Amino acid sequence: MILIKLGGSVITDKAQYRTFNRDAVSRLCREIRDSEENVLVVHGAGSFGHVLAKEYSIQDGFVDFAQVPAVARVQYDVRELNLMVVREMLDAGIPAMSVPPGSCFIMDDGKLIVDNTDVMLSASHLGIMPVMFGDVVFDRKRGFGICSGDQLMEILCGIYSPERVIFVSDVDGLYDRDPKSNPDSKLLTEVTSELLEKVTGDSTIDDVTGGVKAKMEAMLRITTPERDCVLINGSVPGRLYSILKGEKIISTTARGGLR
Ligand code: IPE
Repeated sequence: MILIKLGGSVITDKAQYRTFNRDAVSRLCREIRDSEENVLVVHGAGSFGHVLAKEYSIQDGFVDFAQVPAVARVQYDVRELNLMVVREMLDAGIPAMSVPPGSCFIMDDGKLIVDNTDVMLSASHLGIMPVMFGDVVFDRKRGFGICSGDQLMEILCGIYSPERVIFVSDVDGLYDRDPKSNPDSKLLTEVTSELLEKVTGDSTIDDVTGGVKAKMEAMLRITTPERDCVLINGSVPGRLYSILKGEKIISTTARGGLR
């Protein structure tokens, strides 16, 4: 099985509240279908989650009741996004089903607890893809918090033991310096813990769950001696299909675990 995260940067316009990139999602679903691989998709929230979550500091947990309407609203927004993604899967001929983490799971001091896998595994056994996503999740200590798609990826690796893991974003991979301000920055084809320490700069976009560097750390955590984790650019047509078919493409591979 191949575990894929469709990042918020590719499925939405991260700078504009609630803007769905339908064409990109529709194409990515067709690339998945055409690959004929056994795939499980998780997706991020993009501008359906980060904009309001940041404004109301939802990632910090309960501070005051002024946050509460935003907690409800963000849950609503990310569910709408999820249903649009699921719709594109269905239209591509992939049986898929919405599994909202905020309604199925709980967090404990920021740590996601998944102690009931019945729903997702029942779907998987029937050949239905349970599609989970970055969500607002209740937290036993903090009241509520943000569960990122990257956290879900880590947990799902433990449950499904995928052979390969792919993160789909809108950048070719990780650069040695911020490519926006350094035109001569170089794309790193491979990243280890040691190399990541030397990388400077990060994405400046409003994001409550960290930028590219935080993503690389999450990616390194889910590598094993048998399993690499690859970051690819899903805005370029055909790249997801190619990597699913085992072809070599422009990308950054995380290897060797996080120290
Ligand atoms: C964020 O999930 C969830 C919310 C803000 C509700 P992610 O962190 O996985 O989303 P992207 O991929 O960065 O947009």
